[in-house]
Amino acid sequence: MTSSRLLSDVRAVRRTILVANQKGGVGKSSIVAAIAVAVARRGKRVLVVDADQQGNCTVRDLGVKESDEGRSLAMTLQYGSPLEAVRDVRPNLDVVCGGKLLAMAGAVAAGAEQHGIDPRQNLLLALEALVDSVGYDLVLIDSGPGDRAVLDLLLQVVSWLIVPTKEDDGSIDGAELLARRYLWARKNGAQIELMGMVLFDCNPRAIRRNEDTLGKIMDLLEGTGIEPFRSFIRQDKASALDARAFHLTAEELIAFSPKNNAGGETDEAGPAKRWSRDTEPLATDYQKLTREVLIRLAAGERAKEVV
Ligand SMILES: Nc1ncnc2c1ncn2[C@@H]1O[C@H](COP(=O)(O)OP(=O)(O)OP(=O)(O)O)[C@@H](O)[C@H]1O
Ligand SMILES: [Mg+2]
Repeated sequence: MTSSRLLSDVRAVRRTILVANQKGGVGKSSIVAAIAVAVARRGKRVLVVDADQQGNCTVRDLGVKESDEGRSLAMTLQYGSPLEAVRDVRPNLDVVCGGKLLAMAGAVAAGAEQHGIDPRQNLLLALEALVDSVGYDLVLIDSGPGDRAVLDLLLQVVSWLIVPTKEDDGSIDGAELLARRYLWARKNGAQIELMGMVLFDCNPRAIRRNEDTLGKIMDLLEGTGIEPFRSFIRQDKASALDARAFHLTAEELIAFSPKNNAGGETDEAGPAKRWSRDTEPLATDYQKLTREVLIRLAAGERAKEVV
């Protein structure tokens, strides 16, 4: 397929946000799960696509019990078969599962032209069909660290990009690498737009240090006219451990007690106690971020309609 043909084909699935950073452990999955659950709890229909072979978002964050371990997404990429989501993981929230069956996705994406398949087009059409048939208000895509071919493909399908980063130089380097892939995708006709970068796992009291990190993020964004998100996600290891043990977001953990968990939304064999006492500050960070994301999404989608 020639690049001019690719250019003419390129369009993006509306209201679809990719959360990505080339570096691992910077909060991609936690942020996808928290925003997805928050928006679904407020009555909007949300789809999560877990495009990571680790499948953390599917299993650990959202607690999907009947995960297909990435089979549907892998089949879509390779053969163009319809995307199948696990329905009602929470009210209003469906999930296209990630997992080990996506291990081949990188090879499929990297060798696409050679094998005469078009995984980007396959995903675009299948995602559009699913979004249209269910009428999702928001699609969030979680991506794995590192896999450049899959990332390049996702960048050409979604309409928005959020880049989380921690304050260490390694995470910021990961964000910079991603920024380069983003610019490359745009140069090749992708419709994706960077929505913002968000600081993850930071100490809210280290004001000067956070400002310094935000400065580095601003340098990365220089010339784009895009501001980093004002909200950040604070460090709270106890809540993070509980979130994954009970497969609940910080917001859901507020009213949760392991004692009342038997037969509930989470594994019956889950831990007997929780580590965190108060998940409200972390939940508030995620609420603020969700609000900012929805505001930027609404304004951005409106601007696209005007054009
Ligand atoms: N607020 C928090 N404070 C401290 N640690 C956190 C917080 N939220 C999540 N974590 C932990 O940080 C780690 C990385 O989070 P997460 O898995 O969301 O990142 P990721 O970018 O998706 O990682 P990967 O690249 O491996 O998919 C996890 O062990 C998670 O439990
Ligand atoms: Mg992850």
